[in-house]
Amino acid sequence: MGSPRNSPKNSLSGNPTYGSAVDGAASRPGSPGAATRGERIPSSPDRHHSEVTLRVNGRPRTLVVDHRSVLLDVLREQLGLTGAKKGCDHGQCGACTVLVDGRRVNSCLLPAVAQDGYDITTVEGLAGDDGEERAVDGEERAADGEVRTVDGQERAADGGLHPLQRAFIDRDAFQCGYCTPGQLCSAVGAIAEAEAGHPSHVTDPATPSGQPMPLGPDEIRERLSGNLCRCGAYAHIVRAVEDVIR
Ligand code: FES
Ligand code: FES
Repeated sequence: MGSPRNSPKNSLSGNPTYGSAVDGAASRPGSPGAATRGERIPSSPDRHHSEVTLRVNGRPRTLVVDHRSVLLDVLREQLGLTGAKKGCDHGQCGACTVLVDGRRVNSCLLPAVAQDGYDITTVEGLAGDDGEERAVDGEERAADGEVRTVDGQERAADGGLHPLQRAFIDRDAFQCGYCTPGQLCSAVGAIAEAEAGHPSHVTDPATPSGQPMPLGPDEIRERLSGNLCRCGAYAHIVRAVEDVIR
């Protein structure tokens, strides 16, 4: 199973219903989604907000977050990192997958205030230290005239791409691309889990524990089963991951 460390019972959803059921806070400035509604997010902590420092893609980012905001909303709305996508907002599709201290999580379920001090890696950080700086606007193209899209951003040249991003392009492992940032982060996490010897539901029980697990197609399918693709690019995604682990 794709196994983010959080579970629905730990969730504080950004769903406005939650806030209004508690104290009507959904209509209050600084409530979840406030940034996208053009409301002001308080710049200093108060009863409903705290200052946190998240190390996002290698850079410390200190900001004030609403206690009810989930990591996905903070990344997208306060930090402008729109690679991670909101699909179901219920921990069921994997579109929001990012890495927290190297482990994959459903960021739509994770309270941002609880991530103080953690390392967060989003799809924008997979390409390397200079990944963000490599992003170019829609007017520009790579030197060979080709536009390559992995995470909704166009990147000049492919020198900084993560091997999985390169493999997804080579294997045509996406169509609309909505699920792709989550698939990429999940695949990075799954490969690390296998290398660390974590078994999956389909791992042969005779496999020695604690040893790196070989990843065949069945293992890849199982370990990425928490990431849905409505375009049905699954077969190509498996081949792309196989390319990287060979
Ligand atoms: S948006 Fe988080 S799992 Fe679907
Ligand atoms: S590529 Fe469209 S949902 Fe996966």
